[in-house]
Amino acid sequence: MSGAVDRDAATAQAQALRADALAGLAGTPKTLPCKWLYDAEGCRLFEAITRLPEYYPTRTEMRILEESGAAIAEAIGPGAAVVEFGPGDGAKAVQLLGTLQAPAAYLPVDIAAEWLEAAAGRVSAAFPGLRVRPVVADFTLPFDLAGRAAGSTTHLGFFPGSTIGNFEPQEAVAFLRRARASLRPGARMLLGADLVKSAAILEAAYDDAAGVTAAFDLNLLARLDREAGADFDLAAFRHEARWNVELERIEMHLVARHAQSVLVAGHRFRFGAGESIHTESSHKYRPDRLRALAESAGWRPARMWTDPEQLFSVWLLEA
Ligand code: AVI
Repeated sequence: MSGAVDRDAATAQAQALRADALAGLAGTPKTLPCKWLYDAEGCRLFEAITRLPEYYPTRTEMRILEESGAAIAEAIGPGAAVVEFGPGDGAKAVQLLGTLQAPAAYLPVDIAAEWLEAAAGRVSAAFPGLRVRPVVADFTLPFDLAGRAAGSTTHLGFFPGSTIGNFEPQEAVAFLRRARASLRPGARMLLGADLVKSAAILEAAYDDAAGVTAAFDLNLLARLDREAGADFDLAAFRHEARWNVELERIEMHLVARHAQSVLVAGHRFRFGAGESIHTESSHKYRPDRLRALAESAGWRPARMWTDPEQLFSVWLLEA
């Protein structure tokens, strides 16, 4: 039974990947949604990215959670139930829960059961007495926390990592609005957002010397070859990170090294030499812009913490 359910889910996922690829490659400019970067190999490469010397966001956010932990815990107060959107391996939750005063529960929310298990296992091992209740749901859509709400505690949404930056700004507003609706009235949200900085730092962070980010980006073409009947030649594309000054975002592109055509699920797509597929945007925020974005989603920014070099920011929002 569960084997059949898994197979149905895999088929639906393969169809969605194919449909997104056909639509994105038919457009001008060509695009592919960044959510498809994260198959098992993509997740492994992303984990490796977070440990690269050039990729400052993960370690900087962790440092803020450590060094401003007491102030964050004081602002949040005792007894919060932490609802984490997309918990990854749970490392940041362990850091946060270790500083909060008597947290009531940990509720990681993700569509990917592997991430949920990893995060719940890690948090349970670190805090054996804590109530841990994973929620299988797509956190970009409304979801129901009834039954897992842990008594009358207040909810603290937790969305670290600057994943908010991978949404287009209007999608980020919609996400924050929906998150508010999924949490209890009176909830708060701890949100990580990467800050605008020099193009040199940003382009190095998204095009590292060891080529891990390039491998992460190119894996998307390998995935289309594996799962969507495509015949991309990976050697015919190169990864590029571009700082878009106007839109204040880093863009990942896969650039065709020469003119070519590629078959995807029976459809042929032509590439001119130098033509790119835009695979991801990572928006960087100035504090004023992030404040305005949160406010337009119905949240009141109460506090902001940053690191000494002002690379990254952690916000406490109130509903
Ligand atoms: C997951 N997300 C916050 C990462 C980022 O920085 O936008 C994804 C990433 N892409 C390339 N490097 C990291």
